[in-house]
Amino acid sequence: MAHLPRLPALVFAFLVVHVHAFPGSGAAPLPPTYDGSMCSDSSRCGSFDIRYPFYLANTTKVITADNTTYSCGYTDLKISCRDDGETQTAIIQLGQFTYTVKNISYEAGTIIVADPDAFRNGGNYGCPIIRHNVTFGPEWLRYTGSYDNLTFFFSCNLSKDELPGLHDYRIDDCPGFSNSPGGGASFVFSSDQLDATREHDLAEHCDDVIAVPVLRDSLARLSNMSLLGSEYGGVLRNGFELAWSGKMAGACYQCEESGGRCSYGQNKVFLGCLCTDEKVEAPYCSKSLRN
Ligand SMILES: *[C@@H]1O[C@H](CO)[C@@H](O)[C@H](O)[C@H]1NC(C)=O
Ligand SMILES: *[C@@H]1O[C@H](CO)[C@@H](O)[C@H](O)[C@H]1NC(C)=O
Ligand SMILES: *[C@@H]1O[C@H](CO)[C@@H](O)[C@H](O)[C@H]1NC(C)=O
Ligand SMILES: *[C@@H]1O[C@H](CO)[C@@H](O)[C@H](O)[C@H]1NC(C)=O
Ligand SMILES: *[C@@H]1O[C@H](CO)[C@@H](O)[C@H](O)[C@H]1NC(C)=O
Ligand SMILES: *[C@@H]1O[C@H](CO)[C@@H](O)[C@H](O)[C@H]1NC(C)=O
Ligand SMILES: *[C@@H]1O[C@H](CO)[C@@H](O)[C@H](O)[C@H]1NC(C)=O
Repeated sequence: MAHLPRLPALVFAFLVVHVHAFPGSGAAPLPPTYDGSMCSDSSRCGSFDIRYPFYLANTTKVITADNTTYSCGYTDLKISCRDDGETQTAIIQLGQFTYTVKNISYEAGTIIVADPDAFRNGGNYGCPIIRHNVTFGPEWLRYTGSYDNLTFFFSCNLSKDELPGLHDYRIDDCPGFSNSPGGGASFVFSSDQLDATREHDLAEHCDDVIAVPVLRDSLARLSNMSLLGSEYGGVLRNGFELAWSGKMAGACYQCEESGGRCSYGQNKVFLGCLCTDEKVEAPYCSKSLRN
């Protein structure tokens, strides 16, 4: 009986330790409160509403103890809003490269992005050069069903005998593509036009192979026309679609289910749940909205 009064104190102590030590993997705990403007219901960038699980690059905060940056949203869904005076452009980074945001659908959980190289208004607007593959972490993003590819082969060294069958796919008369006399032709194929054998055979003769994701519908609209005759640049500028989702289990899921928003560090570690009244809790909000 004499021990009983201590129990609540113990439970309290446990909760405090538990909350503040979360997630206990070396990451610094979040402060007990956060700046509510980090999680504003909607911020404007150009024609887009930016809201959770996206967040604006300028809304992250630093935990001074160990210099961890935390966000109100999923680490990979950081939007930079570039201000060009008259227009604002929403930019997202996938892997090492940045992409222009074309559309966000919060209902469908999808985003359409395009490589900014496709918009460079040089002499090759109809046939822009994309020089790198698209890469992104698997944590939150994936391709949707409307995904197709254009595959580019750059700087290929083919003999005169090998070239004729490829004539329709050769990128000629397009500024920026090398078509030097000693070889160095470049080619582009849609996925229909490229089987594994051809891809393998051709790749052996070329310096670079780049697969660029595109919207299936956008590519299909070119129907039977050759990619080159119809200038594939428009298809690249229409971009490609990605879907986002959180994990259907784990701390972030519990946080969202309780009405909170997940805070992540730049290293993609879940740091805590941002709840009402600017309180940080872990792993979920105690004042459930669903009570
Ligand atoms: C904190 O991190 C930023 C970028 O991650 C870095 O530029 C800065 O030097 C770091 N500051 C300290 C005190 O470690
Ligand atoms: C962040 O950037 C957005 C868009 O450029 C701007 O509207 C907003 O005022 C900025 N917020 C802060 C806290 O700087
Ligand atoms: C995004 O797509 C939807 C449906 O496809 C469309 O209604 C909307 O206007 C688009 N928004 C922008 C900013 O392009
Ligand atoms: C697109 O290209 C990638 C890489 O070559 C390949 O794994 C994927 O199956 C292709 N997708 C389609 C729809 O052709
Ligand atoms: C192109 O291929 C030919 C024959 O395989 C070879 O002799 C030549 O050196 C190659 N040229 C270049 C620039 O690689
Ligand atoms: C780009 O993707 C293609 C198709 O998957 C692959 O063959 C090629 O090696 C990749 N290129 C680079 C530079 O990663
Ligand atoms: C595409 O071209 C092939 C042969 O060139 C033809 O049989 C087919 O009907 C065409 N399809 C469309 C959608 O125009």
